[in-house]
Amino acid sequence: RGDPRLKAISDAISVVPNFPKPGIMFQDITTLVSNHKAFKHTVDIFVDRYRDMGISIVAGVEARGFIFAPPIALAIGAKFVPLRKPGKLPGEVISEAYELEYGNDCLEMHKCAVEKGERALVIDDLVATGGTLSAAIRLLERGGAEVVECACVIGVPEIKERRMLDGKPLYVLVEPR
Ligand code: PRP
Repeated sequence: RGDPRLKAISDAISVVPNFPKPGIMFQDITTLVSNHKAFKHTVDIFVDRYRDMGISIVAGVEARGFIFAPPIALAIGAKFVPLRKPGKLPGEVISEAYELEYGNDCLEMHKCAVEKGERALVIDDLVATGGTLSAAIRLLERGGAEVVECACVIGVPEIKERRMLDGKPLYVLVEPR
């Protein structure tokens, strides 16, 4: 709230109107991650929050969660677990389907990526309906992990203010621009 880094982060996100479809105000985080200061602020805020929470898994959602989750995982001494779109992981997987505005999608996780009782953090760039994060939570819990929190850089106001998603704490840095 009063943290000036949040404004710098928000200012570094670009908005692209009508991408990828008419009416969508696309939140482009490529300009955030190409701004060293703003990217570092983003990672630092999450690392400060999660470093002493006994988290051993940082799960990132394909594709843009893969940008933010690994630096957080490395800094807090946790492993990075990719949650992938279907058909990409070679080992035995757990799958969770979720609904999109038009149609369905699915996330998959390697079964062996998680041990029973591990404490997990889920990271993505943006939360809109929350469908993607819900699927991520279900995946990790089916794998035996405890989801401690979900965190995103950007979240729509309705969901950002609620601060909860499927009974789990949700932490969001900024609203869409
Ligand atoms: C976007 C975004 C989140 C998800 C949020 O991903 O990166 O993962 O949508 O939407 P929700 O809260 O309504 O579920 P997208 O499906 O565009 O995939 P991509 O990152 O692979 O482009």
